[in-house]
Amino acid sequence: MSGVREAKPLESRRIRELMATETTGLIGYLTVLQETDSTNDAVSRLPEHLQHAHVVLADRQSRGKGRRERSWHSPAGGNLYLSLGWRFDGAAAPLATLPLVVAVCICRALARLGFEGTGVKWPNDILVDGRKLAGILVELQSAGNGPALAIIGIGVNVAMPRESNPNDRIDRPWTDLAAEWPAGAALPGRNRIAAGLLEELLISLKLFETDGFPPFSADWQSRDTLRGNEVELKIGSEVLRGVARGIDEEGGLLVETVDSGLRACHAGEVTLHHG
Ligand code: BTN
Repeated sequence: MSGVREAKPLESRRIRELMATETTGLIGYLTVLQETDSTNDAVSRLPEHLQHAHVVLADRQSRGKGRRERSWHSPAGGNLYLSLGWRFDGAAAPLATLPLVVAVCICRALARLGFEGTGVKWPNDILVDGRKLAGILVELQSAGNGPALAIIGIGVNVAMPRESNPNDRIDRPWTDLAAEWPAGAALPGRNRIAAGLLEELLISLKLFETDGFPPFSADWQSRDTLRGNEVELKIGSEVLRGVARGIDEEGGLLVETVDSGLRACHAGEVTLHHG
């Protein structure tokens, strides 16, 4: 049962052992911390020459960050909080689709581990039946047109400690893998889930560097939970209502409105429109 079973400690050696050799070779350092403020911030504080391919995991985050200035509930003892630094050569603009690629990676990794039930909500929430299972925060640091460092932060609710009062701390429907894992199958430990996620991420980042978003687009679209539904998109003070029609090749959400036809939206917060 979730939150009751004692979770095994996260261990960098174990995570490396559980990964295929061709992917461990792509990691620089893999650091596991008992606690940090935010694993994304831990990567950003590293000396520049150590940031690329450096993975930081923590058992607990004291100031876990979500998108749109939200906080990410990060109690000890059950979940995954993981960040990876990745330096891309060239301008930062095409990196707009990187969060969508990461979303596909999480879904694929969980599927390979035995859980098929994930969906994506634009741009990059991972949901199970409308409840949030995992979140992605990609932070970009770039100097002009030079190489851009992406800090890719992933939070997965694996077995949310119930004593951390998640229902008071998370302001939207949420779930964890312990609650969703197929009955009769053993939930993999956090080290194995971390290893599976890293394998998928590292292989995909290499592909993304050469081929961009197209190899991931079909998979993202097949998991799209908004497509065909009435949505409301808040872009600053503007509110757009329409029907979600998937994404364009730049990862923008396509919304079909009564007044202006099909619009591609590259920013904003989207909710299902009831009513
Ligand atoms: C969101 O859905 O709002 C994004 C949540 C991202 C949470 C992860 S946990 C690891 C990394 N460190 C952070 O402070 N945030 C990300």
